[in-house]
This record gives sequence, structure tokens and C-alpha cells, in this order.
Amino acid sequence: MVKATEDTVDEIKSKLDIVDIVEEKLRLEKRGKNYVGLCPFHQEKTPSFNVSPDKQIYKCFGCGVSGDMFSFVMQSENLSFKEALNMLAKRAGVSLPEGPKRESGLEQKKEAILQLNEQAMHFYHYILTQRPEGKKALEYLESRGINSNSIENFQLGFAPNNWDSLYKAARKKGYTNENLLQAGLISERKDGSGYFDRFRNRIIFPIFDYRQRVIGFGGRILDEESKAPKYLNSPATLLFDKRKVLYGLEKALPEIRQKKQAIVAEGYTDVILVHQEGITNVVASLGTALTPQQARTVRVQAEEVIIAYDSDAAGEAATERGLDILKESGCQVKVAGFPEGLDPDSFIRSYGKKAFINILQEAQPLVEYRLQNLQNKHDLSRPEGKMLFVKELIPVLFSISNVLERDEYLKRVAEELNFSEEALRSEMKKYQKMARKAEKNGNNLVKIEQTNNILVEKLEPAEKALLSLLFVDEGVLGRVVEDMKNNDGIFNPEVEKIIKACNDLRENGKEIKFEYLRGQLEDDSLTELLADLSFEAPWEEFTGEGVLKVVDDCMLRLKIKKLSRERERVEQKLKELEKADADEGSVRSLLVEWESLKLQEQELYRSGKKEGLVNG
Ligand code: CTP
Ligand code: MN
Repeated sequence: MVKATEDTVDEIKSKLDIVDIVEEKLRLEKRGKNYVGLCPFHQEKTPSFNVSPDKQIYKCFGCGVSGDMFSFVMQSENLSFKEALNMLAKRAGVSLPEGPKRESGLEQKKEAILQLNEQAMHFYHYILTQRPEGKKALEYLESRGINSNSIENFQLGFAPNNWDSLYKAARKKGYTNENLLQAGLISERKDGSGYFDRFRNRIIFPIFDYRQRVIGFGGRILDEESKAPKYLNSPATLLFDKRKVLYGLEKALPEIRQKKQAIVAEGYTDVILVHQEGITNVVASLGTALTPQQARTVRVQAEEVIIAYDSDAAGEAATERGLDILKESGCQVKVAGFPEGLDPDSFIRSYGKKAFINILQEAQPLVEYRLQNLQNKHDLSRPEGKMLFVKELIPVLFSISNVLERDEYLKRVAEELNFSEEALRSEMKKYQKMARKAEKNGNNLVKIEQTNNILVEKLEPAEKALLSLLFVDEGVLGRVVEDMKNNDGIFNPEVEKIIKACNDLRENGKEIKFEYLRGQLEDDSLTELLADLSFEAPWEEFTGEGVLKVVDDCMLRLKIKKLSRERERVEQKLKELEKADADEGSVRSLLVEWESLKLQEQELYRSGKKEGLVNG
């Protein structure tokens, strides 16, 4: 099984380019031999995510993640190795060797949900466009200005006003109750007597991921009088997580990348109607406040984000939080101002594309927008109006990270509204103190998740150097293994594991490569570590004798390190004995041991100097 996988992995890698795969997730720019972009795995404002087309690996110098195309899709899509293998094989057009355990249970479940979702989408779409039951819905969409082109493009559908239309159709096609439940398309009756469709008498909006797979649905009521909630979405499933989805992303990506700008709206209909007018860099957050994941998805593709929310929604607390999250992620945030009571959907329908573009062009930078809002909100001619204004003004000023710019705004506000600059500055200081205190208590607003390879930090520099050399020259491994035999415990156990795995490969006549090692190690953090180190390898100019000299030096340093670790342990024991008033005999034997360790250390140093290895 391992053998077959190795060959397949090789074949896949030869057919795909890691740059293409990463580029689907984030915008990359060429820098020298490599490409750089904003890391999709942690929050950052300047790019430290590097992709090397030569080595076909990536590394983020900000958070430390690294690996090859397989680990990239595993990490970014939250897939197992097998799932990644399946996905990349499909993409490369490589057929996988048949095996009894080709897919894990989880993977099979996800695959089943996808298939079923796809079928459900076709079912609803067919009802809407071909069946008499869909006529009313079709007329409704028409009345809202959604044309047949958009209905096709977004694969809109209609769920008939029955309890079990989809259920029956899906069961007929061989899907099980479990399939349907896991896809979130049906619910079980309270009395356990059967199942019923989740979506009934609703317009259906299929929701895709960026790879164009149907991961969930939204459904809107037809009848405005109905007491049911206006929108109903798929529940959370193995594939659907409302907080991560941006509706329309799969269609918006090309233009978002090209313009480096995204328009973020609130609803399905906003996306569809704006898109219909040929403005295609638009996505929606499905009514919730923007989450850090969504912000990051946008940020790695676009520099500027224009918020196009309902005029009444902007200004709400949830919206505000979303805007802060976006800003924290490093986006330049602008807010489009629609006339009272209008959203992008109704605006573009009433006033057309030109006027819409105008509104976008006049979108205000977030700070300006907030200042404007504050001024409108408070009566500045009265003292308490002024006081309330200042109270809300300070955090807005603080959200400006550039100090000079912040001061610029402060002066402007002071001048325009007739405040004393001094007073504003002293308010700022007070606020800053408070903010610091809050941060100390762990109350900072946005928590940044970080993935770090802790292993890297535990390793000795010499160990890291050695590991990175393994990929540079074939002679390295033999030398290390030979030397290791007489020096038990000089390596961190994890490093020892890696070296042994490499040795197993060599003894089986294989090259030392990531993908082979992955099979041997069965521990992603170790392979990740290797990818990490080989990326850093500063040793490429060394070959043959030169590289072996470096190996010897590393081994020597590790031997010395090991001795000094032992010596420290002895010292520690001595201290304890002193405290405990121990007998002279045991103290003396420890002293002898200490002395001997010291001598060995010095001896190693001397021999190293003679060979020109150590110089200190
Ligand atoms: N939404 C939701 N559940 C609700 C209400 C809203 O999930 N009960 C989400 C939907 O994704 C909706 C978005 O929030 O598209 C914006 O809500 P709203 O402005 O009320 O809907 P519109 O998109 O304007 O829909 P319509 O124009 O059809 O009324
Ligand atoms: Mn709306």
C-alpha cells in the first residue's frame, strides 16, 4: 500500500504545480525565484507566505507552517492525507490504485453529501424551471428582476410545498435516510414516525465553496405574510459552516483577484442582482457579522473591501464588529452609502449600474464613515452631545494604526468641531491606559489563532542543520548513522525518529524524499518539520567533503551539548545534596563524575579545533 501511494504521489506531483494550487486560495506575487502572499493560516498584514516553485514547497515565515502541495490542501481544506490524495489525483488526472480501504469513513460521508447536494440542486432547479409547481416562484423571481440567465448561473431552484418531495425523489435514487440527514436536507419527525423535507415552499439558493461544489442551501419564503423565518439555511454539516461561507465567492474570485477589490454585501439577492449587472467581484456574508475566517478569505485575495450593506444595517453592533474584524485582518475597508432604506439589490434595480458604480467610487474609508456617523448621531451644539461624541470618537481614532494619520484626524476633528486638541489628546491617553489593562486581562477584541511547529523551537541549531543536510547530499545520512551508534541520546527523540526513518528508506534502496518519509513517519508534524528545514537549508553550496565537514561539526556540537547537559544534571544533584547535608562520599563521587565530564568536553573541543571544526 505504501509503495503504490509513493508512486502515485510522485506522479501527481509531476503533473501539478504547487503555485497553481496555492494561487486558488490566495493572491501570489513573484519575488525573485519564489512567490509570496498573505498567509492563509494566520492573520497578517504583510506577506510572509513563501512558495518555492523549484522545490514545490511553501513556508510561512510568520507562523511557521510549511510543507508541500499535499500538506497545503490538507491544512487549508482540513483534509486527511487520503482525502488530499484523492482530490489532487482527480485534479492531476491520475487514477488511484484500487485498494479495499481507499476512502476513510469520513471522506465517504463528505462525498455522499456532495453527491446528494448536487442531486438536490438539480431537483429544485428542475421544479423551478420546468414544473407547474415552480411557476409562482419563477414569477416571483422575475418580479424581483432576476433574469433567466441568473437563474441558470446561480442554479436557483424551488422546493415545492410538500413535506416529502425531495425525500421521495432522493430515496428513489438510492440515497439513505442517513445520507439525507447528514446533508441537512431532511429532519426526523418528533414522534420518530418518519422524516420530512427541511426546505418547503421556498426559493432555493445553492451555496458553493470556492471549488464550485454545492456545500449547502439557503431557502427564502415566497409568501411575505408567512410567519416562518424569511430565510432558512442548511444546518451545519460536515461540509457547511455558515461562518466560513461567502455566498458567490466561486463566481467572484477572478474579478476580486484582478481588481484586488471585493464588494461584501449581506444577502443572496444582493449578490445575484449586482452580478447580473456585470459587477462580479461581489460576495455576501449571509446575514451574520463577518467572521475572522471570512475576513481572511477576502484579505488573501483583495486589498480593498467595500462594504455594501443595507443602509439600515450599517451601524449596528454586529456590523461594527465585522468591520473591525475586516480591518484587523489588514483590509482597507470602505463603506458604500446607500440611500435610506435601500440595499445593493434594490438600489441597482432602481438606479442602474452606473449609479451603483458611482456609489462604490464614493465609498468612504471606514474612519471617515464612522466620524461622519458620529457627527450625525450627536447634537454637537449641546454639552452632553459633545461629551457622548468624544466618548465614541476616541476608539474610532484609536482604530487608526498609523500614528501620524491618527494625529491628522485628531487635529481635523478638533478644528472642524471646535474642540481643544489638548483635551482630545488627554482623553486618548486615558483610553490607552484602559485598553492596555484590558489586554493584560486577556480581553483583546480579536484573538489570533496561530499554528506553530513547536518542535522546531525545541531543537538544537545543529540538529536543524543536520536534518536540512539530509536532503542535500547522500553521504550525510551514512555519516550521521555511523556516528549515532556510539553516541546514544545525542539527538532529540523526534530527530532520532526521522533519522531512523531515513535510514530505513536508504536500506530499501530509496531516495530520501518528503513523500516517502511521510509514509514512514505517520506523523505530520515531523514531515512538516522536514519540509520546514529543507526550505531553510543554507547549505546548498556545500557538497561532498565540504558537507561532511559540516556534519562532523554538527555532531561534535551535539556531543558537547550532551556532555554539558549531563554535567548540568550532576551540578543540580550536587546542589540538592548540599542542601540535604549529605555524606561526603556521595558528594565526592559526584564531583569526580563532574570532573570527568568536564574533561571529556574539553577533549572534544580540542579535537574539534585540530580539525578546524570548532573555533571557540
Ligand atoms: N438571513 C438569514 N436568515 C434570516 C434573515 C436573513 O440567513 N432569517 C440572511 C440571508 O442570507 C439574507 C441576508 O441575511 O440574504 C440578508 O437579510 P435581508 O436583508 O433581510 O434579506 P435580503 O437579502 O434583502 O432578502 P430580500 O431582499 O429577499 O428580502
Ligand atoms: Mn437586504
